[in-house]
Amino acid sequence: ILKLTEYVTVSDLANMMNIPVNEVIATCMSIDMMVSINMRLDAETIKLVAEEFGFETEFVSTDVVAAIQESTEEDKEEDLVERAPIVTVMGHVDHGKTSLLDNIRKTNVIAGEAGGITQHIGSYNVKLPSGRHITFLDTPGHEAFTAMRARGAKATDIAIIIIASDDKVMPQTVEAINHATAAGVPMVFAFNKIDVAGADPAKIREQLAAMNYLVEDWGGKYQCQEISAKKGIGVNELLEKVLLEADLLELKANPKRRASGLIIESSLDKGRGYVSNILVQNGTLKVGDVILAGKYYGRVKAMTNERNQPLKEAGPSVPATILGFNGAPSAGDTFNVLETEHEARDIANKRTQLEREQGLRTQKMLTLDDIGRRI
Ligand code: GTP
Ligand code: MG
Repeated sequence: ILKLTEYVTVSDLANMMNIPVNEVIATCMSIDMMVSINMRLDAETIKLVAEEFGFETEFVSTDVVAAIQESTEEDKEEDLVERAPIVTVMGHVDHGKTSLLDNIRKTNVIAGEAGGITQHIGSYNVKLPSGRHITFLDTPGHEAFTAMRARGAKATDIAIIIIASDDKVMPQTVEAINHATAAGVPMVFAFNKIDVAGADPAKIREQLAAMNYLVEDWGGKYQCQEISAKKGIGVNELLEKVLLEADLLELKANPKRRASGLIIESSLDKGRGYVSNILVQNGTLKVGDVILAGKYYGRVKAMTNERNQPLKEAGPSVPATILGFNGAPSAGDTFNVLETEHEARDIANKRTQLEREQGLRTQKMLTLDDIGRRI
């Protein structure tokens, strides 16, 4: 009897049966399966092939995602607390995305009391005069947003669509609107550059109406605000409208659970090792926690905020820079905190293996010659 996990490659199987790997490959081919040495086999195929060689099989489950599933189990109602909305600014080139984010950061970034220059960590948390918080996702090209969308998850709660009112609705404006609509992310429109002579926000309202996006002051459902990102006009009003939108979403998280969230960007720092900017979406991330993202894992060695001040922990909707991954996880990857380093390493290794196989599968179909050469 062969004791198997669901994670067995062609060469693993050959080794376990003590049979040359090309015989296993040939058997697979006889049941119309083109395989290569490092390819993982499904349970059905393993059973068939093993029987072919006179072995019985028994499966021992080591569920790859058991640990992850555990961390996505439902929260108790009483553990849920309000969290800050995560907001992205999108719009056409030169319509003022960076100017708006800069203005917000300069006037509203928390911890303003203590010194320190704000670092670009792809995300930051602001405190409004009303005392409420908003977390901005500020990634170049919004890679994280796009990557997360591709994975069917949401990185953003609300999108600010910025349109220069001395210009018009442009292709990237339309793209941003379609993007947010497809992701089911509510939008607030910001009509920027109202300080410019000839700015005509009414014309923008008209163009949006023509696309079936009717703004509130024209009787529609979309909130909008005229602003000057450069002069700081209307920005706080815009943010209060974002919070109104957030109230409708009733955003909640459970700070008591193990953390999960988003990788915003990662890099290798010669002195410090791998540095990752992350955004906690649920739970609380603590220094010392075992973390896993994509193929990489590690322990949180140090954690800082956007002012480079050390943090012991980061709760829901809080961005942070962390040290401790053994590689650079990709923007848009989710991270999870696991119980043990062993568990994290296991999953990371399995993902590495799966990725390798995926690569093999997407290569051209193997010919008999190829197989001969590989063996
Ligand atoms: P990309 O990152 O290139 O897509 O552009 P962006 O959307 O980030 O625009 P950015 O904030 O860089 O602004 C483009 C130009 O418009 C800059 O020269 C800004 O100074 C100017 N600008 C942005 N907002 C305003 C505004 O409210 N009023 C005026 N007068 N100029 C503005
Ligand atoms: Mg910019």
